[in-house]
Amino acid sequence: MVRVLRIRSGARGRMLLSLRPSVPEVLARLAVRRVWQWRRELTGLAGLWVALRVAGRLSDGHGPLVVAVVCAVLLGVPRTRRPVLGWFHAGRVRRSWARACRAAELVGWMARTPPVRSVRAVSAGVVLTVRLLPGQEPEDLRRASERLAATMRVRSVSVVSDPADVGRVRVLVVYRETLDRLVTPAPLPGPAGGSLGGGPVGAADLAGLVGGLDRLVVGVREDGDPWLLPLRGVHVLVAGATGAGKGSVLWSTIRALTPAMAAGLVRVWAVDPKRMELSFGAGVFARLAVDVEDIADLLDDAVEQMRGRADRLSGVDRTHVPTPAEPLIVVVIDEIASLTAYVTDPALKRRLAAALAVLLSQGRAPGVVVVGAVQDPRKEVLPLRDLFPVRVVLRMTEPGQVDLVLGSGARDRGAHADLIPAGLPGVGYVLTDGDPTPVKVRAAFVTDTEIRHLADLGDLAGWGR
Ligand SMILES: Nc1ncnc2c1ncn2[C@@H]1O[C@H](COP(=O)(O)OP(=O)(O)OP(=O)(O)O)[C@@H](O)[C@H]1O
Ligand SMILES: [Mg+2]
Repeated sequence: MVRVLRIRSGARGRMLLSLRPSVPEVLARLAVRRVWQWRRELTGLAGLWVALRVAGRLSDGHGPLVVAVVCAVLLGVPRTRRPVLGWFHAGRVRRSWARACRAAELVGWMARTPPVRSVRAVSAGVVLTVRLLPGQEPEDLRRASERLAATMRVRSVSVVSDPADVGRVRVLVVYRETLDRLVTPAPLPGPAGGSLGGGPVGAADLAGLVGGLDRLVVGVREDGDPWLLPLRGVHVLVAGATGAGKGSVLWSTIRALTPAMAAGLVRVWAVDPKRMELSFGAGVFARLAVDVEDIADLLDDAVEQMRGRADRLSGVDRTHVPTPAEPLIVVVIDEIASLTAYVTDPALKRRLAAALAVLLSQGRAPGVVVVGAVQDPRKEVLPLRDLFPVRVVLRMTEPGQVDLVLGSGARDRGAHADLIPAGLPGVGYVLTDGDPTPVKVRAAFVTDTEIRHLADLGDLAGWGR
Protein backbone atom coordinates (compact mmCIF):
# COMPACT_ATOMS: atom_id res chain seq x y z
CA MET A 1 0.00 0.00 0.00
CA VAL A 2 1.54 3.31 -1.07
CA ARG A 3 1.40 6.09 1.46
CA VAL A 4 2.73 9.56 0.71
CA LEU A 5 4.33 11.35 3.57
CA ARG A 6 3.88 15.04 2.89
CA ILE A 7 5.91 17.67 4.55
CA ARG A 8 4.47 21.12 4.26
CA SER A 9 4.94 24.47 5.88
CA GLY A 10 2.35 25.37 8.47
CA ALA A 11 1.51 28.71 9.96
CA ARG A 12 4.49 30.60 11.34
CA GLY A 13 6.84 28.39 9.36
CA ARG A 14 6.35 25.20 11.40
CA MET A 15 6.75 21.93 9.51
CA LEU A 16 3.60 19.75 9.47
CA LEU A 17 3.60 16.03 8.70
CA SER A 18 0.55 14.37 7.24
CA LEU A 19 0.06 10.71 6.39
CA ARG A 20 -2.65 10.21 3.77
CA PRO A 21 -3.21 8.32 0.51
CA SER A 22 -2.19 9.98 -2.69
CA VAL A 23 -4.75 11.09 -5.30
CA PRO A 24 -3.89 8.22 -7.71
CA GLU A 25 -4.26 5.75 -4.84
CA VAL A 26 -7.72 7.11 -3.98
CA LEU A 27 -8.78 6.93 -7.64
CA ALA A 28 -7.43 3.39 -8.00
CA ARG A 29 -9.29 2.27 -4.89
CA LEU A 30 -12.52 3.82 -6.13
CA ALA A 31 -12.13 2.11 -9.51
CA VAL A 32 -11.45 -1.28 -7.90
CA ARG A 33 -14.42 -0.82 -5.57
CA ARG A 34 -16.68 0.00 -8.54
CA VAL A 35 -15.53 -3.07 -10.46
CA TRP A 36 -15.99 -5.22 -7.35
CA GLN A 37 -19.50 -3.86 -6.78
CA TRP A 38 -20.51 -4.64 -10.35
CA ARG A 39 -18.65 -7.95 -10.47
CA ARG A 40 -21.80 -10.03 -11.03
CA GLU A 41 -22.94 -7.98 -14.01
CA LEU A 42 -19.38 -7.92 -15.40
CA THR A 43 -19.13 -11.70 -14.97
CA GLY A 44 -22.48 -12.04 -16.77
CA LEU A 45 -21.27 -9.90 -19.66
CA ALA A 46 -17.98 -11.78 -19.85
CA GLY A 47 -19.89 -15.08 -19.83
CA LEU A 48 -22.12 -13.81 -22.63
CA TRP A 49 -19.15 -12.74 -24.68
CA VAL A 50 -17.42 -16.12 -24.24
CA ALA A 51 -20.69 -17.91 -25.07
CA LEU A 52 -21.10 -15.87 -28.27
CA ARG A 53 -17.55 -16.63 -29.35
CA VAL A 54 -17.80 -20.36 -28.64
CA ALA A 55 -21.31 -20.70 -30.12
CA GLY A 56 -20.25 -18.69 -33.21
CA ARG A 57 -17.40 -21.10 -33.86
CA LEU A 58 -19.43 -24.23 -33.28
CA SER A 59 -22.62 -23.30 -35.11
CA ASP A 60 -21.34 -21.79 -38.28
CA GLY A 61 -22.47 -18.20 -37.85
CA HIS A 62 -25.62 -18.89 -35.81
CA GLY A 63 -23.93 -18.04 -32.50
CA PRO A 64 -26.23 -15.16 -31.47
CA LEU A 65 -29.30 -17.26 -32.17
CA VAL A 66 -28.01 -20.21 -30.13
CA VAL A 67 -27.07 -17.94 -27.21
CA ALA A 68 -30.44 -16.18 -27.37
CA VAL A 69 -32.25 -19.54 -27.20
CA VAL A 70 -30.12 -20.70 -24.24
CA CYS A 71 -30.78 -17.38 -22.41
CA ALA A 72 -34.51 -17.60 -23.15
CA VAL A 73 -34.63 -21.13 -21.70
CA LEU A 74 -32.58 -20.08 -18.65
CA LEU A 75 -34.87 -17.15 -17.94
CA GLY A 76 -38.08 -18.82 -19.04
CA VAL A 77 -37.96 -21.80 -16.69
CA PRO A 78 -38.75 -20.81 -13.07
CA ARG A 79 -36.28 -23.36 -11.66
CA THR A 80 -33.35 -21.66 -13.38
CA ARG A 81 -34.77 -18.13 -13.60
CA ARG A 82 -35.07 -17.71 -9.83
CA PRO A 83 -31.43 -18.49 -8.94
CA VAL A 84 -30.07 -16.49 -11.92
CA LEU A 85 -32.14 -13.37 -11.22
CA GLY A 86 -31.64 -13.83 -7.46
CA TRP A 87 -27.88 -13.81 -7.99
CA PHE A 88 -28.01 -10.50 -9.87
CA HIS A 89 -30.54 -9.06 -7.42
CA ALA A 90 -28.16 -9.85 -4.53
CA GLY A 91 -25.56 -7.70 -6.30
CA ARG A 92 -28.02 -4.80 -6.54
CA VAL A 93 -28.93 -5.18 -2.86
CA ARG A 94 -25.27 -5.07 -1.86
CA ARG A 95 -24.73 -1.85 -3.83
CA SER A 96 -27.85 -0.28 -2.40
CA TRP A 97 -26.74 -1.28 1.12
CA ALA A 98 -23.28 0.23 0.57
CA ARG A 99 -24.79 3.48 -0.75
CA ALA A 100 -27.18 3.72 2.19
CA CYS A 101 -24.40 3.06 4.72
CA ARG A 102 -22.30 5.82 3.17
CA ALA A 103 -25.28 8.21 3.29
CA ALA A 104 -25.88 7.28 6.93
CA GLU A 105 -22.16 7.70 7.70
CA LEU A 106 -21.72 4.11 8.79
CA VAL A 107 -18.29 3.96 7.23
CA GLY A 108 -14.79 2.98 8.24
CA TRP A 109 -11.35 3.65 6.80
CA MET A 110 -11.49 4.96 3.21
CA ALA A 111 -15.33 5.05 3.28
CA ARG A 112 -15.51 1.25 3.59
CA THR A 113 -19.03 0.08 4.46
CA PRO A 114 -20.05 -2.91 6.65
CA PRO A 115 -19.63 -5.84 4.24
CA VAL A 116 -22.57 -8.06 3.33
CA ARG A 117 -21.65 -11.72 3.78
CA SER A 118 -24.83 -13.23 2.40
CA VAL A 119 -28.19 -12.25 0.94
CA ARG A 120 -31.24 -14.50 1.44
CA ALA A 121 -34.61 -13.85 -0.17
CA VAL A 122 -37.62 -14.06 2.17
CA SER A 123 -41.28 -13.37 1.47
CA ALA A 124 -41.09 -9.76 2.72
CA GLY A 125 -37.76 -8.87 1.05
CA VAL A 126 -34.23 -9.98 1.84
CA VAL A 127 -32.20 -10.85 4.91
CA LEU A 128 -28.58 -9.70 4.82
CA THR A 129 -25.87 -11.11 7.02
CA VAL A 130 -23.58 -8.18 7.69
CA ARG A 131 -20.19 -8.03 9.38
CA LEU A 132 -19.63 -4.91 11.43
CA LEU A 133 -16.59 -2.75 10.83
CA PRO A 134 -13.98 -2.37 13.57
CA GLY A 135 -15.34 0.04 16.18
CA GLN A 136 -19.00 -0.51 15.28
CA GLU A 137 -21.67 -2.17 17.41
CA PRO A 138 -25.14 -3.46 16.39
CA GLU A 139 -26.76 -0.43 18.04
CA ASP A 140 -25.02 1.88 15.51
CA LEU A 141 -26.89 0.20 12.67
CA ARG A 142 -30.10 -0.04 14.66
CA ARG A 143 -30.09 3.70 15.33
CA ALA A 144 -29.62 4.37 11.63
CA SER A 145 -32.27 1.90 10.45
CA GLU A 146 -34.80 4.53 9.38
CA ARG A 147 -32.16 6.48 7.49
CA LEU A 148 -31.02 3.27 5.82
CA ALA A 149 -34.59 2.39 4.85
CA ALA A 150 -35.24 5.86 3.44
CA THR A 151 -32.04 5.78 1.38
CA MET A 152 -32.66 2.25 0.13
CA ARG A 153 -36.29 3.23 -0.63
CA VAL A 154 -37.69 0.20 1.15
CA ARG A 155 -40.50 -0.10 3.71
CA SER A 156 -38.24 -0.78 6.66
CA VAL A 157 -34.87 -2.05 7.79
CA SER A 158 -34.47 -3.91 11.06
CA VAL A 159 -31.25 -5.05 12.60
CA VAL A 160 -31.04 -8.17 14.75
CA SER A 161 -27.92 -9.04 16.75
CA ASP A 162 -26.39 -12.47 16.39
CA PRO A 163 -26.07 -13.99 19.88
CA ALA A 164 -23.26 -16.25 18.63
CA ASP A 165 -21.15 -13.41 17.20
CA VAL A 166 -21.35 -9.85 18.45
CA GLY A 167 -19.57 -8.59 15.32
CA ARG A 168 -22.28 -9.88 13.01
CA VAL A 169 -25.91 -8.79 12.51
CA ARG A 170 -28.90 -9.91 10.50
CA VAL A 171 -30.59 -7.10 8.59
CA LEU A 172 -34.17 -7.61 7.41
CA VAL A 173 -34.84 -5.34 4.42
CA VAL A 174 -38.59 -5.20 3.88
CA TYR A 175 -39.87 -4.38 0.36
CA ARG A 176 -43.50 -5.35 0.74
CA GLU A 177 -46.13 -5.78 3.45
CA THR A 178 -46.63 -9.51 3.90
CA LEU A 179 -48.80 -9.32 6.98
CA ASP A 180 -51.83 -7.87 5.20
CA ARG A 181 -53.18 -11.35 4.50
CA LEU A 182 -55.22 -13.27 7.03
CA VAL A 183 -53.08 -15.86 8.80
CA THR A 184 -54.68 -19.25 9.19
CA PRO A 185 -53.61 -21.26 12.24
CA ALA A 186 -50.83 -23.81 11.71
CA PRO A 187 -51.69 -27.50 11.90
CA LEU A 188 -51.43 -28.65 15.49
CA PRO A 189 -48.19 -30.56 16.14
CA GLY A 190 -47.65 -34.11 17.31
CA PRO A 191 -49.90 -37.12 17.49
CA ALA A 192 -52.06 -35.42 20.07
CA GLY A 193 -52.78 -32.73 17.49
CA GLY A 194 -54.61 -35.31 15.48
CA SER A 195 -56.39 -36.86 18.45
CA LEU A 196 -57.32 -33.97 20.69
CA GLY A 197 -60.16 -35.98 22.07
CA GLY A 198 -57.75 -38.22 23.97
CA GLY A 199 -56.03 -41.53 23.30
CA PRO A 200 -52.79 -42.91 24.67
CA VAL A 201 -49.74 -40.64 24.40
CA GLY A 202 -46.28 -42.25 24.57
CA ALA A 203 -43.30 -40.98 26.56
CA ALA A 204 -41.59 -39.67 23.41
CA ASP A 205 -44.74 -37.77 22.44
CA LEU A 206 -44.94 -36.28 25.93
CA ALA A 207 -41.31 -35.13 25.68
CA GLY A 208 -42.06 -33.61 22.25
CA LEU A 209 -45.09 -31.79 23.63
CA VAL A 210 -43.08 -30.43 26.56
CA GLY A 211 -40.41 -29.19 24.12
CA GLY A 212 -43.16 -27.67 21.97
CA LEU A 213 -44.15 -25.40 24.87
CA ASP A 214 -40.97 -23.44 24.16
CA ARG A 215 -42.04 -22.71 20.59
CA LEU A 216 -45.79 -22.51 20.14
CA VAL A 217 -46.70 -21.51 16.59
CA VAL A 218 -49.08 -18.59 17.04
CA GLY A 219 -48.77 -16.69 13.76
CA VAL A 220 -46.21 -15.52 11.23
CA ARG A 221 -43.33 -13.09 11.33
CA GLU A 222 -42.73 -10.38 8.78
CA ASP A 223 -39.91 -12.39 7.19
CA GLY A 224 -42.34 -15.23 6.52
CA ASP A 225 -41.06 -17.54 9.27
CA PRO A 226 -43.51 -18.85 11.87
CA TRP A 227 -43.97 -16.72 14.97
CA LEU A 228 -42.83 -19.01 17.77
CA LEU A 229 -43.94 -18.04 21.24
CA PRO A 230 -42.14 -19.58 24.22
CA LEU A 231 -44.42 -20.22 27.18
CA ARG A 232 -42.55 -22.49 29.60
CA GLY A 233 -40.91 -20.26 32.18
CA VAL A 234 -42.21 -17.09 30.50
CA HIS A 235 -45.02 -14.60 31.16
CA VAL A 236 -46.49 -12.88 28.10
CA LEU A 237 -48.06 -9.41 27.96
CA VAL A 238 -50.23 -8.45 24.98
CA ALA A 239 -51.17 -4.78 24.67
CA GLY A 240 -53.30 -3.10 22.04
CA ALA A 241 -56.09 -0.62 21.52
CA THR A 242 -59.65 -1.85 21.35
CA GLY A 243 -60.11 -4.00 18.25
CA ALA A 244 -56.34 -4.42 17.79
CA GLY A 245 -56.69 -8.20 17.89
CA LYS A 246 -55.57 -9.14 21.42
CA GLY A 247 -58.18 -11.87 21.34
CA SER A 248 -56.46 -13.53 18.39
CA VAL A 249 -53.12 -13.64 20.21
CA LEU A 250 -54.80 -15.18 23.26
CA TRP A 251 -56.76 -17.71 21.21
CA SER A 252 -53.81 -18.63 18.96
CA THR A 253 -51.81 -19.34 22.10
CA ILE A 254 -54.62 -21.33 23.74
CA ARG A 255 -55.21 -23.28 20.52
CA ALA A 256 -51.49 -24.10 20.22
CA LEU A 257 -51.64 -25.44 23.78
CA THR A 258 -54.50 -27.84 23.12
CA PRO A 259 -52.38 -30.89 22.19
CA ALA A 260 -50.51 -30.47 25.49
CA MET A 261 -53.84 -29.97 27.29
CA ALA A 262 -55.18 -33.17 25.73
CA ALA A 263 -52.09 -35.00 26.98
CA GLY A 264 -52.59 -33.56 30.46
CA LEU A 265 -49.40 -31.47 30.42
CA VAL A 266 -51.07 -28.06 30.52
CA ARG A 267 -54.07 -26.59 32.32
CA VAL A 268 -55.39 -23.20 31.33
CA TRP A 269 -57.08 -21.08 33.98
CA ALA A 270 -59.01 -18.29 32.33
CA VAL A 271 -59.86 -14.88 33.75
CA ASP A 272 -62.44 -13.00 31.69
CA PRO A 273 -63.68 -9.93 33.55
CA LYS A 274 -65.24 -8.51 30.35
CA ARG A 275 -67.08 -11.84 29.75
CA MET A 276 -66.71 -11.29 26.01
CA GLU A 277 -63.60 -13.17 25.02
CA LEU A 278 -62.65 -16.31 26.90
CA SER A 279 -66.09 -17.26 28.27
CA PHE A 280 -66.98 -18.11 24.67
CA GLY A 281 -64.69 -21.17 24.75
CA ALA A 282 -65.31 -22.13 28.39
CA GLY A 283 -64.99 -25.89 27.67
CA VAL A 284 -61.27 -25.52 26.95
CA PHE A 285 -60.41 -24.25 30.39
CA ALA A 286 -59.72 -26.10 33.58
CA ARG A 287 -61.07 -23.05 35.41
CA LEU A 288 -62.85 -19.89 34.34
CA ALA A 289 -63.53 -16.85 36.52
CA VAL A 290 -65.49 -13.78 35.47
CA ASP A 291 -66.60 -12.10 38.73
CA VAL A 292 -64.00 -10.13 40.62
CA GLU A 293 -64.33 -12.29 43.76
CA ASP A 294 -63.98 -15.50 41.74
CA ILE A 295 -60.98 -14.00 39.98
CA ALA A 296 -59.36 -13.23 43.34
CA ASP A 297 -59.99 -16.85 44.45
CA LEU A 298 -58.54 -18.19 41.20
CA LEU A 299 -55.40 -16.09 41.53
CA ASP A 300 -55.01 -17.04 45.19
CA ASP A 301 -55.31 -20.72 44.25
CA ALA A 302 -52.67 -20.24 41.54
CA VAL A 303 -50.37 -18.68 44.14
CA GLU A 304 -51.00 -21.61 46.48
CA GLN A 305 -50.17 -24.14 43.75
CA MET A 306 -47.08 -22.17 42.91
CA ARG A 307 -45.90 -22.11 46.55
CA GLY A 308 -46.52 -25.86 46.96
CA ARG A 309 -44.47 -26.61 43.88
CA ALA A 310 -41.73 -24.19 44.86
CA ASP A 311 -41.42 -25.96 48.25
CA ARG A 312 -41.13 -29.35 46.54
CA LEU A 313 -38.70 -28.15 43.87
CA SER A 314 -36.54 -26.15 46.27
CA GLY A 315 -33.04 -27.62 46.29
CA VAL A 316 -34.05 -30.40 43.87
CA ASP A 317 -34.64 -28.71 40.54
CA ARG A 318 -34.43 -25.18 39.28
CA THR A 319 -37.20 -25.41 36.69
CA HIS A 320 -40.48 -27.26 36.72
CA VAL A 321 -40.99 -29.88 33.99
CA PRO A 322 -44.69 -30.35 33.22
CA THR A 323 -46.08 -33.86 33.72
CA PRO A 324 -49.68 -35.14 33.73
CA ALA A 325 -49.37 -35.27 37.53
CA GLU A 326 -48.12 -31.70 37.76
CA PRO A 327 -49.05 -29.78 34.60
CA LEU A 328 -47.98 -26.32 33.54
CA ILE A 329 -50.65 -23.88 34.73
CA VAL A 330 -51.28 -21.05 32.28
CA VAL A 331 -53.33 -18.21 33.75
CA VAL A 332 -54.83 -16.30 30.81
CA ILE A 333 -56.20 -12.88 31.76
CA ASP A 334 -58.16 -10.97 29.15
CA GLU A 335 -57.92 -7.51 30.71
CA ILE A 336 -55.26 -7.05 33.36
CA ALA A 337 -56.38 -3.48 34.03
CA SER A 338 -59.70 -4.88 35.27
CA LEU A 339 -57.78 -6.35 38.17
CA THR A 340 -55.47 -3.47 38.87
CA ALA A 341 -57.19 -0.27 37.79
CA TYR A 342 -60.94 -0.67 37.67
CA VAL A 343 -61.70 -2.50 40.95
CA THR A 344 -63.22 -0.09 43.45
CA ASP A 345 -63.18 -2.19 46.68
CA PRO A 346 -59.74 -1.37 48.15
CA ALA A 347 -59.35 -4.67 50.05
CA LEU A 348 -60.19 -6.75 46.97
CA LYS A 349 -57.97 -4.59 44.84
CA ARG A 350 -55.04 -5.16 47.22
CA ARG A 351 -55.69 -8.91 47.23
CA LEU A 352 -55.77 -9.09 43.41
CA ALA A 353 -52.68 -6.92 43.02
CA ALA A 354 -50.74 -8.95 45.60
CA ALA A 355 -51.60 -12.31 43.99
CA LEU A 356 -50.74 -11.03 40.52
CA ALA A 357 -47.42 -9.57 41.66
CA VAL A 358 -46.46 -12.84 43.39
CA LEU A 359 -47.38 -14.92 40.33
CA LEU A 360 -45.48 -12.65 38.00
CA SER A 361 -42.38 -12.45 40.14
CA GLN A 362 -42.16 -16.08 41.32
CA GLY A 363 -44.40 -18.23 39.12
CA ARG A 364 -42.15 -18.91 36.16
CA ALA A 365 -39.81 -21.51 37.63
CA PRO A 366 -42.52 -23.58 39.42
CA GLY A 367 -44.62 -23.76 36.25
CA VAL A 368 -47.36 -21.18 36.81
CA VAL A 369 -47.23 -18.63 33.99
CA VAL A 370 -49.41 -15.67 33.06
CA VAL A 371 -50.56 -14.54 29.62
CA GLY A 372 -52.21 -11.17 30.06
CA ALA A 373 -53.90 -8.75 27.68
CA VAL A 374 -54.23 -5.05 28.33
CA GLN A 375 -55.87 -2.25 26.39
CA ASP A 376 -54.21 0.73 27.92
CA PRO A 377 -50.72 0.55 29.41
CA ARG A 378 -51.65 2.93 32.20
CA LYS A 379 -49.67 3.52 35.34
CA GLU A 380 -51.34 0.72 37.34
CA VAL A 381 -50.17 -1.87 34.82
CA LEU A 382 -46.84 -0.29 34.13
CA PRO A 383 -45.00 -1.49 37.28
CA LEU A 384 -45.81 -5.08 36.24
CA ARG A 385 -44.46 -4.61 32.72
CA ASP A 386 -40.88 -5.61 33.46
CA LEU A 387 -42.04 -8.89 34.98
CA PHE A 388 -43.20 -10.05 31.52
CA PRO A 389 -40.19 -11.41 29.58
CA VAL A 390 -42.21 -11.49 26.34
CA ARG A 391 -44.22 -8.42 25.37
CA VAL A 392 -46.39 -7.95 22.31
CA VAL A 393 -47.69 -4.57 21.26
CA LEU A 394 -50.51 -4.49 18.70
CA ARG A 395 -52.05 -1.33 17.22
CA MET A 396 -51.76 1.58 19.62
CA THR A 397 -53.34 5.01 19.41
CA GLU A 398 -50.29 7.06 20.45
CA PRO A 399 -46.57 6.67 19.74
CA GLY A 400 -45.71 7.12 23.44
CA GLN A 401 -47.64 3.98 24.40
CA VAL A 402 -45.27 1.75 22.45
CA ASP A 403 -42.33 2.43 24.75
CA LEU A 404 -44.63 2.13 27.77
CA VAL A 405 -45.27 -1.48 26.80
CA LEU A 406 -42.02 -2.59 25.21
CA GLY A 407 -39.59 -0.40 27.15
CA SER A 408 -37.85 2.81 26.25
CA GLY A 409 -36.33 3.09 22.80
CA ALA A 410 -38.42 0.26 21.32
CA ARG A 411 -40.29 2.56 18.95
CA ASP A 412 -37.03 4.06 17.71
CA ARG A 413 -35.81 0.52 17.08
CA GLY A 414 -38.72 -0.06 14.70
CA ALA A 415 -41.83 -0.92 16.75
CA HIS A 416 -44.19 1.53 15.01
CA ALA A 417 -47.34 0.10 16.57
CA ASP A 418 -49.08 3.48 16.39
CA LEU A 419 -48.80 3.33 12.58
CA ILE A 420 -50.50 -0.06 12.21
CA PRO A 421 -53.75 0.51 10.30
CA ALA A 422 -57.00 -0.38 12.05
CA GLY A 423 -57.69 -2.76 9.16
CA LEU A 424 -54.85 -5.07 10.22
CA PRO A 425 -55.98 -6.63 13.51
CA GLY A 426 -53.54 -9.11 15.00
CA VAL A 427 -50.50 -7.28 13.55
CA GLY A 428 -47.97 -6.06 16.08
CA TYR A 429 -44.42 -6.18 17.36
CA VAL A 430 -42.99 -8.70 19.77
CA LEU A 431 -40.03 -8.14 22.02
CA THR A 432 -38.34 -10.95 23.86
CA ASP A 433 -35.99 -10.35 26.78
CA GLY A 434 -32.40 -10.40 25.62
CA ASP A 435 -33.11 -9.27 22.06
CA PRO A 436 -33.48 -5.50 21.64
CA THR A 437 -35.00 -5.67 18.15
CA PRO A 438 -38.80 -5.81 17.94
CA VAL A 439 -40.07 -8.35 15.42
CA LYS A 440 -43.20 -7.57 13.38
CA VAL A 441 -45.72 -10.38 13.50
CA ARG A 442 -49.34 -11.24 12.81
CA ALA A 443 -51.31 -13.60 15.01
CA ALA A 444 -53.25 -16.39 13.36
CA PHE A 445 -57.00 -15.86 13.33
CA VAL A 446 -58.85 -18.62 15.16
CA THR A 447 -62.44 -18.61 13.96
CA ASP A 448 -65.42 -18.82 16.30
CA THR A 449 -66.27 -22.19 14.74
CA GLU A 450 -62.88 -23.58 15.71
CA ILE A 451 -63.10 -22.15 19.21
CA ARG A 452 -66.50 -23.80 19.60
CA HIS A 453 -65.05 -27.08 18.31
CA LEU A 454 -62.13 -26.93 20.75
CA ALA A 455 -64.52 -26.07 23.59
CA ASP A 456 -66.65 -29.13 22.71
CA LEU A 457 -63.55 -31.34 22.68
CA GLY A 458 -62.39 -29.90 25.98
CA ASP A 459 -65.83 -30.43 27.48
CA LEU A 460 -65.94 -34.03 26.31
CA ALA A 461 -62.43 -34.91 27.45
CA GLY A 462 -62.71 -32.75 30.57
CA TRP A 463 -59.32 -31.10 30.11
CA GLY A 464 -58.13 -30.54 33.61
CA ARG A 465 -61.36 -31.03 35.46
N1 LIG B 1 -55.26 -12.01 13.78
C1 LIG B 1 -56.37 -11.55 13.22
N2 LIG B 1 -56.55 -11.65 11.90
C2 LIG B 1 -57.67 -11.15 11.33
N3 LIG B 1 -58.67 -10.56 11.97
C3 LIG B 1 -58.56 -10.44 13.30
C4 LIG B 1 -57.41 -10.92 14.00
N4 LIG B 1 -57.56 -10.65 15.30
C5 LIG B 1 -58.75 -10.04 15.42
N5 LIG B 1 -59.36 -9.92 14.23
C6 LIG B 1 -60.65 -9.26 13.98
O1 LIG B 1 -60.64 -8.00 14.64
C7 LIG B 1 -61.75 -7.88 15.53
C8 LIG B 1 -61.28 -7.33 16.86
O2 LIG B 1 -60.41 -8.25 17.45
P1 LIG B 1 -60.35 -8.55 19.01
O3 LIG B 1 -61.72 -8.66 19.56
O4 LIG B 1 -59.44 -9.69 19.21
O5 LIG B 1 -59.71 -7.19 19.52
P2 LIG B 1 -59.27 -6.83 20.99
O6 LIG B 1 -57.92 -6.24 20.90
O7 LIG B 1 -59.45 -8.01 21.87
O8 LIG B 1 -60.30 -5.68 21.35
P3 LIG B 1 -60.95 -5.33 22.78
O9 LIG B 1 -59.89 -4.67 23.58
O10 LIG B 1 -62.06 -4.41 22.44
O11 LIG B 1 -61.40 -6.62 23.40
C9 LIG B 1 -62.32 -9.28 15.69
O12 LIG B 1 -63.70 -9.23 15.56
C10 LIG B 1 -61.77 -10.09 14.55
O13 LIG B 1 -62.74 -10.26 13.54
MG1 LIG C 1 -60.63 -8.49 23.52
